[in-house]
Amino acid sequence: MIASPHAPIVGDDPLTALHMLVADDMQAVNSLIARRLNSDVVLINEVARYIVNSGGKRIRPLLLILSARALQYQGTDHIDLAAVIEFIHTATLLHDDVVDGSNLRRGQGSANSVWGNEASVLVGDFLYSRAFQMMVDVNSMRIMEIMSDTTTVISEGEVMQLLNCQNPDTSEQEYLRVIHAKTAKLFEAAARIGAVLGNSSRTQEQAMASFGCYLGTAYQLIDDVLDYSGSAEATGKNLGDDLAEGKPTLPIIYAIRNGTPAQAKVIRDAILTGGRENIDAVIETVESTGAMAYTAGAANTQLELALQALKAIPPSAHKEALQTLAQFAVSRVH
Ligand code: IPE
Ligand code: IPE
Ligand code: MG
Ligand code: MG
Repeated sequence: MIASPHAPIVGDDPLTALHMLVADDMQAVNSLIARRLNSDVVLINEVARYIVNSGGKRIRPLLLILSARALQYQGTDHIDLAAVIEFIHTATLLHDDVVDGSNLRRGQGSANSVWGNEASVLVGDFLYSRAFQMMVDVNSMRIMEIMSDTTTVISEGEVMQLLNCQNPDTSEQEYLRVIHAKTAKLFEAAARIGAVLGNSSRTQEQAMASFGCYLGTAYQLIDDVLDYSGSAEATGKNLGDDLAEGKPTLPIIYAIRNGTPAQAKVIRDAILTGGRENIDAVIETVESTGAMAYTAGAANTQLELALQALKAIPPSAHKEALQTLAQFAVSRVH
């Protein structure tokens, strides 16, 4: 199990039990990740090990493993593919912190704040490429198809988000499209690949993919709540990064739509200019307009849909773990 310095997975954290259920698999995934970070280029090793060893909750590999096990998969490709998914996630974090100008990640200085933007972007590219090398070894055209579609959509999501930055007129629908692409799609791929490995029926594969998609959407909705109301100690990230960047997340969109004209103006101005100067007024307003509660409610709706999708999957301890994982996505503080 990975213990992250800022958010140890211990005690009554619901993730502990999930990691324990598939402890051997997760250990194999973590060893494989460590082995496949190797490169003859010292800077690649240094930056990649820095971010990978800083922990992280390993939610996406856990999802892939649980999905494969819930569908009775007995081989070993799930280990390789779980590592692939975590490599892609890590690459997106390296790139994301550059784009978002974030300087804290997993409770320590982000890679861009330590090595600079150039090194972070290039090592992110290395991790993407290494992930595709590992996928070729698995030798499944279907899985290559799923993953190449997924990484294309993630990139589209990040670019759509860039276009929405400092635009207070971004709609809820546009926001949902962005989070579906940048976050939910990778969760969907993880869950779907588990089902593909398990040789499940088309219906079960689709159910698992939908589960991953709803779970990923809920996960990002809560991430966007935590950016205003969380604790940096628990999340390992700076609060207010979204506002600093002028990112119109759902708490912002709802507060503009439902606040008084004066409240809407506070938020609109903060998004137009970006920066952290007015964060206290913005937090006050997103709270008092009910925008936080609305966003948390939207995450709960996604949770219900995720649990509904799982009904097509036969009962097992691994299926129960998937249900717990979905609940964690909305109750989490880290
Ligand atoms: C952070 O993902 C990026 C989002 C999609 C919200 P995680 O919250 O899974 O980050 P780590 O891997 O645990 O650090
Ligand atoms: C998630 O969005 C970005 C990725 C999908 C990589 P955020 O920008 O909100 O993620 P954090 O908060 O920096 O982890
Ligand atoms: Mg970010
Ligand atoms: Mg965030």
